[in-house]
Amino acid sequence: MTTTEFETFGSTRALHAEPGVYEPQDDSWLLCEMASQSGVVQGARVLDMCTGSGAVALAAASMGAREVVAFDISALAVACARRNAVALGLEVDVRRGSFAEAAALEPFDVILCNPPYVPSEEVPTGEGPHRAWDGGRDGRIVLDPLCDAAHELLVPGGTLMVVHSEYSDPDRTQAMLRSNGMTVTIVARRSISFGPVMTQRAAWLEQIGLLESSRDIEDLVVFRADRR
Ligand SMILES: C[S@@+](CC[C@H](N)C(=O)[O-])C[C@H]1O[C@@H](n2cnc3c(N)ncnc32)[C@H](O)[C@@H]1O
Repeated sequence: MTTTEFETFGSTRALHAEPGVYEPQDDSWLLCEMASQSGVVQGARVLDMCTGSGAVALAAASMGAREVVAFDISALAVACARRNAVALGLEVDVRRGSFAEAAALEPFDVILCNPPYVPSEEVPTGEGPHRAWDGGRDGRIVLDPLCDAAHELLVPGGTLMVVHSEYSDPDRTQAMLRSNGMTVTIVARRSISFGPVMTQRAAWLEQIGLLESSRDIEDLVVFRADRR
């Protein structure tokens, strides 16, 4: 089990990620930081899609969301996020499922999402830790359904904030959200060193022309999209 310091207003407490559950990383914290800076979470009904350990959902609860509903396809992640919510004394309704299950509970004021987005040779199937990062050949196995569903899931004027890598086609995210009736801005772009998954996949990414030779950093991009 890994433990991450989790900052809520005025205090730092521990957030646990059991083996098989995504340990919050740069992408998780960058999304939380941008959500906090945006000011849209306070008083809002928030959906955290792809919750993992619950890091983003719990950050939203600690920012003063009115209600937080979190979904993940992994039973391990759901159990982990529930345990973290109890341990931190924060209220989050954690459920197993994805977009179809979230649609039954719409509308939301805010959607936050740190999806799996690393390009992978195989289409991810089944259960396992790989589901936290494998995004299929273009990295968009969750990003495309998110861009399609966001407008319907949100109230008019509602906000989606999503983080992903430069290697999972940010131009497509922007174009899809715009064509689905959203006003889109990039609110953060931050370079990070490759983690173990990108390092292990670099040769294949070079081979398919997605990665320049010897590059070992990637930009994380955070989008804010407001429903018109
Ligand atoms: C990159 S992790 C993010 C975890 C957490 N939100 C964070 O930022 O630390 C992605 C999570 O998405 C979940 N996931 C993968 N495909 C999904 C889908 N179609 N619907 C919902 N959750 C999914 C994985 O199980 C994993 O927990």
